[in-house]
Amino acid sequence: MSTDPPLKELALHNITVRFGGLTALDDVSLRVAPGRIVGVIGPNGAGKTTLFNVICGFVNPTSGSLTLDGQPWRPRPHHLNRLGIARTLQGVGQFAGMTVLENVMVGARNRHAEREALTALERCGVARYAGAHPGALPYAIRKRIELARALVAKPRILMLDEPAGGLDSDEIRWLGTLIKEVGTTVLLVEHHMDLVMSVCDEILVLDFGRSIALGTPGEISENPRVTESYLGAPA
Ligand SMILES: Nc1ncnc2c1ncn2[C@@H]1O[C@H](COP(=O)(O)OP(=O)(O)OP(=O)(O)O)[C@@H](O)[C@H]1O
Ligand SMILES: [Mg+2]
Repeated sequence: MSTDPPLKELALHNITVRFGGLTALDDVSLRVAPGRIVGVIGPNGAGKTTLFNVICGFVNPTSGSLTLDGQPWRPRPHHLNRLGIARTLQGVGQFAGMTVLENVMVGARNRHAEREALTALERCGVARYAGAHPGALPYAIRKRIELARALVAKPRILMLDEPAGGLDSDEIRWLGTLIKEVGTTVLLVEHHMDLVMSVCDEILVLDFGRSIALGTPGEISENPRVTESYLGAPA
């Protein structure tokens, strides 16, 4: 069992990220309260993955700051697991030379890693592939393995970057149920609007790195600025 104190708040304060002349995030602020499912949406290149990379410490903001539980916080990738923050990648990022079970054990945080990895695989409906090598498996199965690897840490904050990518509508429905049932704080980047609207408590909309709206699914779907920049356009 993980013994993390419960999350109080993760917050981004006026985060700007520049890559040379390109502004990937422009003065973005966000507060993530415990137990909330927070969606991050926006067109391709809007800065969604960059926002995740800032929270994970892969990208240092050009300006702005983060706080975790009210304390100034400089994220480092190798501290995330210990802090109870787990993330899936936009594609699939499994180690080729390891079995599915071994890949998921990498995410575990305690001595019963193997049993917990199997439990996580079961929860994601892919335990039967435990002994297989991920490279040989269909994409949708690998996305589930990716989820299991994040869930095995029993994270305080689960960050999902396009978990529905490449999944069919039945699988997306399954994913929606899992996200709602997981009972932890979730940050969800996703283009599938049905999924986002059905699972999220609140949604941040990015457009060219700017935060153009933050609100409940109902507020976001009726926001003319969002409809114009994103929801009106084909996904
Ligand atoms: N390491 C980097 N170096 C230079 N530019 C980058 C880097 N990472 C991202 N970018 C650029 O920053 C912008 C935002 O990219 P990001 O990957 O955050 O978008 P996204 O919203 O996740 O898009 P998608 O929906 O396609 O995944 C893009 O223009 C991208 O090309
Ligand atoms: Mg992305």
